[in-house]
Amino acid sequence: MLSGKRILLGVTGSIAAYKAAVLVRLLVKAGADVKVIMTPSAKEFITPLTLSTLSKNPVESDFVKDQSGVWSNHVELGLWADVLMIAPASANTVAKMANGFCDNLLSAVYLSARCPVFFAPAMDLDMLQHQSTQTNINRLVSFGNHLINPEYGELASGLTGTGRMAEPEEIVIQLKSFFSTNLRLKGKKALVTAGPTYEAIDPVRFIGNNSTGKMGFAIAEELARQGAEVNLISGPTHLSLSVPNVTITKITSADDMHREALKHFPASDIAVLSAAVADFKPLTKADQKIKKSTAGLTIELIQNPDIAADLGKMKREDQFIVGFALETENEQAHAEKKIKAKNFDLIVLNSLNDKGAGFGHDTNRITLIDKKLNATKFSLKNKKEVAIDIVNAISEHIHA
Ligand code: CTP
Repeated sequence: MLSGKRILLGVTGSIAAYKAAVLVRLLVKAGADVKVIMTPSAKEFITPLTLSTLSKNPVESDFVKDQSGVWSNHVELGLWADVLMIAPASANTVAKMANGFCDNLLSAVYLSARCPVFFAPAMDLDMLQHQSTQTNINRLVSFGNHLINPEYGELASGLTGTGRMAEPEEIVIQLKSFFSTNLRLKGKKALVTAGPTYEAIDPVRFIGNNSTGKMGFAIAEELARQGAEVNLISGPTHLSLSVPNVTITKITSADDMHREALKHFPASDIAVLSAAVADFKPLTKADQKIKKSTAGLTIELIQNPDIAADLGKMKREDQFIVGFALETENEQAHAEKKIKAKNFDLIVLNSLNDKGAGFGHDTNRITLIDKKLNATKFSLKNKKEVAIDIVNAISEHIHA
């Protein structure tokens, strides 16, 4: 998909600039023609020699090429590219792009480029969360630029939070998926549930689970990329998504998710139920924090509403529901039972026996089973690639 594509990579002054070397290598390996533009401060983090050697093209950095007096034509560079990818995009570069500043070759190329532009922010968590940066990022997205969301993890500052640049492998997946774009779901409305639910015990404690929401967020993003208008209902997660056509409703408990899902379902063509909804909740929530007592504590649990089953009952002929099954034994048989019991059209089966699948991983290994019980097994993949497989299967089924 990237073979012969001309990728202009803008590298800016962030510690994540070291990842640009891997990114260039992966792009070249995938058959792309890569040219690199570095901002002056990017050179403090990685040398032009590294990136010119890997890209097999001279690195551009200044308006005037060294000593020669020859102009680096920023307009031509912008016209050459099929895509301008700015990775890492520092807070400073994001601010310049959002406000039309043009004080180095990269910002001049950005302003004159006619091709699609991607940017992968990389910065410390507080810089990212700052209202100025958030406003700048949202502005760039509103201009039609493609945001590659920063990830959660350990940062160069030693702090932990969201701000790390997406991994090069991830950026390559997003580019591949961009070039394979086919708006097969244009005009469709989709509902996605994601993440865990928290069931309150008292004002400070809850029953929850380890779901990160990554799978559901990746599915919402891919559905939108294929043209759908998406309502994403998410339990508590660290994730964010600023993608046009995805509206996020953040909820806490299974009851909240149930209410929101029932509200949006009648107007939806597709529902993807990837949330790890707690099956049980405490019968009562204590008004005050429960005090320790030597007598121990018994919490009476009652069943939560089954969102999937309720939507399955409401489902019309023209609606398509995708459910998930996370199993530890007799996986296929349990998934087949679930597809019937909850009236799903397609089920995504994860087995906890597969290494790298399920909660807390960036990867997943799935089997898709349809209503006729046709099963398709997929290899272990990054969750974004898994999302593409799931959404492609949805598109194929609803257009069959
Ligand atoms: N689900 C839901 N609401 C619930 C429980 C589950 O919407 N209260 C959805 C999940 O999002 C998933 C599917 O139902 O798409 C399967 O969930 P699972 O918990 O595996 O199903 P259960 O009926 O709870 O089956 P079991 O506990 O026997 O595995």
